[in-house]
Amino acid sequence: MAKLFDQITSLLDSTVDAAVVLDGERRVRHYNPAYQALTGLRGRALAERVAAGARCFELFKLDICAEACVGCKARDSGRRIRVDEIAAVRGDGEDLTCIVTAVPLEVADGEQLIIETYRDVTADVRIQRRLKVALEHERRAKEDLEEKVRERTAELRAAQAQLVHQEKMSSLGRLVAGIAHELNNPINFVYGNVDFLGQYMENLLRLVALVDGAPLPDATRAAYEALKAEVEYEFLLGDWQKLLRSIRAGAERTAAIVADLKTFARTGGTELAEADLVAGIDTTLNLIAPLLKNRVDVRRRGGTRIPRVVCNAGHLNQVFMNILTNAAQAIVGPGWIEVEIATVDDGAAVRVVVADSGSGIGPDLMAKIGDPFFTTKEVGEGTGLGLWITANIVRAHGGTLSWGNRAGAGAEFVVTVPVAGPAKDGEAGRAP
Ligand SMILES: Nc1ncnc2c1ncn2[C@@H]1O[C@H](COP(=O)(O)OP(=O)(O)O)[C@@H](O)[C@H]1O
Ligand SMILES: [Mg+2]
Repeated sequence: MAKLFDQITSLLDSTVDAAVVLDGERRVRHYNPAYQALTGLRGRALAERVAAGARCFELFKLDICAEACVGCKARDSGRRIRVDEIAAVRGDGEDLTCIVTAVPLEVADGEQLIIETYRDVTADVRIQRRLKVALEHERRAKEDLEEKVRERTAELRAAQAQLVHQEKMSSLGRLVAGIAHELNNPINFVYGNVDFLGQYMENLLRLVALVDGAPLPDATRAAYEALKAEVEYEFLLGDWQKLLRSIRAGAERTAAIVADLKTFARTGGTELAEADLVAGIDTTLNLIAPLLKNRVDVRRRGGTRIPRVVCNAGHLNQVFMNILTNAAQAIVGPGWIEVEIATVDDGAAVRVVVADSGSGIGPDLMAKIGDPFFTTKEVGEGTGLGLWITANIVRAHGGTLSWGNRAGAGAEFVVTVPVAGPAKDGEAGRAP
């Protein structure tokens, strides 16, 4: 027996883990050097206390000792017990974490012994915890990144949709400008010949009137009257002028649309020159005066000491014409239009603000009214091209166009163009 005990203790003395041999009462029968380090006691002091019959928990205490003694459990069950990650405080006050193993041992004379080992896993646990924190950190960072990617993807999709939309609009624009060019001749055939047709009709009717009053042989007269009835002469007489009027009106409308489109598609007169915007606006106001017909009060503000602007004057006049016409059309009954001209950007640009007392722009229409062919007006009253053309002209001049509603009033359009004209590679005057 003594030999076995000696063999066990000599084995324990050479292990790295702290180890003690306890008797059934948990009195320390043997301890190894690592255990002594755990207790924090000097060699002599420890030896004396062990000799005096000290019990394990009096020398070195684990947190678990107060609730459940690992050694007792092994002793009572007769089985090896292992408990991981038990917190403890070393004799020198350091916190530590151990794996505790207790093995019951029955020696020959029936005496119960317990071998307890304590493996210090403090560093491992600390590393694991740090690893866990780092992993958690990484997981969160990944989630954040994924969220950002989702946001960016959504933004990109929106931008892409916007680009596709713009591209669609601009190719549609080019197509339309081309068609407008082609339509010009045929529409002039109709428009230019309607008056001749009217003249011819009047001449023919004079002939008919002459025949009506002339003496005719009975048979001829009967045939003549029968033919008049057959062609519904009386109805024709009342209807032909209406017919010609609507042909003329239709042709005029078509010509107006084509003219609108051609203004922008125009390739002639592309030279940029210094022009007086204020004079241009005043001319435009005179032109639309019939539309205002004493019902709309026009207030012109600013406009003094405005520098001349390098631009395509014809195109910019078209811009003001479009915006002012829209304003006049938006006002039902009496109202006002305010035009304010000022220099901005330390004199580098001219800004024209056109506000009206009209209906204003519905919030759902804000983004749409600049699209080609978008109109809320009756067929024939609006082509839906005004703002689209306007925006293109302003952009070609290196300027900006924006719109919104003015509190307590109607809409407000703001055009800003640089005094020095478009940048070198600008496209003022070029077709869209
Ligand atoms: N001053 C304004 N007040 C209210 N709505 C306006 C104004 N100007 C333009 N709009 C809206 O913008 C639409 C598009 O205008 P525009 O491109 O000039 O085409 P159109 O005048 O032929 O309808 C108009 O139909 C109208 O709904
Ligand atoms: Mg318009």
